[in-house]
Amino acid sequence: MKRVLSGIKPSSDSLHLGNYFGAIKQQIELQANYQCFFFIADLHALTTVHSKEELQKNIRNIILDYLALGLDPEKVTFFRQSDIPAHPYLAVILSNFIPLGLLKRAHAYKDKVAKGEESSVNAGLFYYPVLMAADILLYKPTYVPVGEDQIQHLEITRDIAERFNKLYGQTFPLPQPFLPKKESRRLIGTDGKKKMSKSIGNIISIFAPEEVIKKQIMNSYTDPQRIHPTDPGRVEGNPVFIYHHLVNKNKEEVAELEARYRQGKVGDVEVKEKLYRAFMDYFGPARKRRKKLSSKPQLTEEILLQGKKKASQLAEKTLAEVKEKIGL
Ligand code: TYM
Repeated sequence: MKRVLSGIKPSSDSLHLGNYFGAIKQQIELQANYQCFFFIADLHALTTVHSKEELQKNIRNIILDYLALGLDPEKVTFFRQSDIPAHPYLAVILSNFIPLGLLKRAHAYKDKVAKGEESSVNAGLFYYPVLMAADILLYKPTYVPVGEDQIQHLEITRDIAERFNKLYGQTFPLPQPFLPKKESRRLIGTDGKKKMSKSIGNIISIFAPEEVIKKQIMNSYTDPQRIHPTDPGRVEGNPVFIYHHLVNKNKEEVAELEARYRQGKVGDVEVKEKLYRAFMDYFGPARKRRKKLSSKPQLTEEILLQGKKKASQLAEKTLAEVKEKIGL
């Protein structure tokens, strides 16, 4: 059985549409036919989260969100990165197989430098791609289901693996990204400009209270050229229609709304209200499950304990192989 691995950073307390369509939907589908290892990247979250309570709340919530969305802990090994010391251990080893220049070109770091924030960037952010390479290579996966923003990290991982294999013999298979269809790879935010991201606040949450979601949808950017509902509007690249295509199961309704929008025969409010309804239909069952799961916080620790046992076996095996090869 081919192996799949992916992770999510608990830097916020709930998932958004970009996480779901960019990565989680694929992860949940892959659990049927692949040996899956999914984890909470809590060590990675330390680049931004510096409150114990917040970190622990985020971890618990994300696990419950995953379960509500259909993750089956019987099929998937679901674990917490910090439970497996082999991750930071391998990262220290791998840091010797990556040129500094490559890390300087990593997007997250480069963006900060471009904004003149280099002196306030913590070293954890700079080192992030090395830890991520260790996360992945320990499990020797064939696929890594992620959104487009992680492709560069995958390239760096492959680069490190190739260098290592060349020096010490074939050790790491080169992992491939497993991407969703084009519109979901880099889901646009409700500001219509940037990638949907919690840190920007341009999100539609999956499990937030109804009134929060309604507000997020109703405040979404549409076509800035369109002043009146009678003006012909642009559908292409319009976030509200991109979201409609993802969540609205009534394809006729979407086609009809698009046609009327192009002709200037529908207002933004109607398009958004229908989006809100479609969103609630799509995620309604998961939201119900999520509510029930809230009363079972102990479940998360049970799942993590099981996951720790299985993940550490594999991770320790790879780490031992690496140590033996390099002479440690
Ligand atoms: P994170 O926590 O930022 O995001 C989790 C997953 O959601 C995807 N994603 C998106 N996809 C499409 N459109 C969007 N707007 C959008 N926003 C988020 C991300 O691509 C990701 O797949 N570095 C990783 C966590 C990580 C990891 C790993 C992943 C640590 N180690 C090893 C895979 C393998 C991250 O910060 O994802």
